[in-house]
Amino acid sequence: MASSLLAPAILFFLSLSAEICVRATEYTVGDGDGWDTGTNYLRWSQNHNFTVGDVLVFNYVRVLHNVYQVTEETYRSCNWSSGVIKMYDSGSDQVTLAEATSFWFICAVEGHCQGGMRMGVKVAASGGGAAAPAPEERSNDAGDAVGRVVVRRWWVVCWSVLLMVWGLRAT
Ligand SMILES: *[C@@H]1O[C@H](CO)[C@@H](O)[C@H](O)[C@H]1NC(C)=O
Ligand SMILES: *[C@@H]1O[C@H](CO)[C@@H](O)[C@H](O)[C@H]1NC(C)=O
Repeated sequence: MASSLLAPAILFFLSLSAEICVRATEYTVGDGDGWDTGTNYLRWSQNHNFTVGDVLVFNYVRVLHNVYQVTEETYRSCNWSSGVIKMYDSGSDQVTLAEATSFWFICAVEGHCQGGMRMGVKVAASGGGAAAPAPEERSNDAGDAVGRVVVRRWWVVCWSVLLMVWGLRAT
């Protein structure tokens, strides 16, 4: 390959791999059902693997519902007179999962939390080469909506692309 083409090609692949490495996923809670009564958020959260930087979007009719980020205790008791971390009520709330920890959400409208409008998500650290495979934490108790811990393997893709670029350069 002509060396004049090499540099742009390398830049292209590098930016591509960087894009893949930092990509966060946006999840609409409940998918098409949104944030509402009658949706099984335990099942929904278990069908997704969350990583630091991912964004949850809660869509609902404003005033009918809201989203409180709460402590685990408040999530379990549905008593939001304490343990509220953040309140959202725009009807289209974006919550960035900024830490590798568990996040707990409820709808703080009378009866809705008890009725099942609550969700816990467990957020895994973004994949680094040294990340240990997380233990599978599938929750069996009914009131518990913690998603399973997983480490997404973007770094494998990143390294593949980088190695490809180096291989290209060596020829
Ligand atoms: C979540 O991770 C598990 C374990 O790595 C995998 O089996 C499953 O397919 C993943 N689910 C999604 C939706 O990516
Ligand atoms: C909720 O918690 C507060 C204290 O944080 C307590 O005073 C109140 O009685 C609790 N309500 C119910 C219904 O348990």
